[in-house]
Amino acid sequence: MIIDILTIFPEYFAPLDVSLLGKARRNGLLDVHVHDLRDWTHDRHRTVDDTPYGGGPGMVMKPEPWGEALDALAPPGSANRLVIPTPSGRPFTQALAVEYAAEPRLLFACGRYEGIDSRVAEEARTRMPVDEVSLGDFVLAGGEVAVLVMVEAVGRLLPGVLGNADSVADDSFAPGAMESLLEGPVYTKPPIWRERPVPDVLLSGHHGAIARWRRDEALRRTALNRPELLGRLDPGSLDGHDRDV
Ligand code: ADE
Repeated sequence: MIIDILTIFPEYFAPLDVSLLGKARRNGLLDVHVHDLRDWTHDRHRTVDDTPYGGGPGMVMKPEPWGEALDALAPPGSANRLVIPTPSGRPFTQALAVEYAAEPRLLFACGRYEGIDSRVAEEARTRMPVDEVSLGDFVLAGGEVAVLVMVEAVGRLLPGVLGNADSVADDSFAPGAMESLLEGPVYTKPPIWRERPVPDVLLSGHHGAIARWRRDEALRRTALNRPELLGRLDPGSLDGHDRDV
């Protein structure tokens, strides 16, 4: 997969050299290019922002550098999907991460200040799919951290990036059995630590009982932390035991 990132702070993306994604990049599974938006400005101060029409606080990102940058990075016929992080966008979910992981190319546009002049997304939409996407109901200082989050969520789903392919299916929110469930607690050795034993069932070797216990714990944790998700469970996927939990 090829990922292009447009930003006025390229240095924000140094973490993409590290750990799982750093290794995926070195192995050629993920090709990330970070571009400085100011390379598409033409004035001495490399200006990317201006005051908002209609008044109000803060600054808005000017359309011209964005237009030229998108023309250069997503010429007609290139298979790009443009992703613009903004608190006003649709929610970023595991299902969207799975969708993005199947794309050949993603282009992320990091806004700063009060956002990017709205005509940029509007014009780009005539040439490629454009998603305005939010990480949640809070406001970041800019799109860079949101893009780091999305690139990590997508990158770990690419074939060959995780050691154990099965672990993706067990993730909280993974499409399928875990779609509306949070993953339950996990344990490793030693079997007793500070007088706290690992639940017996996990040491029993009884795969059916372990699967049942994990599902019960996932249901319990979901009820505790995200009760609204339980309403989204497919009724056909519930058994009598689930209802007791
Ligand atoms: N930019 C600023 N806040 C954001 C958020 N919550 N999600 C995505 N991008 C953002």
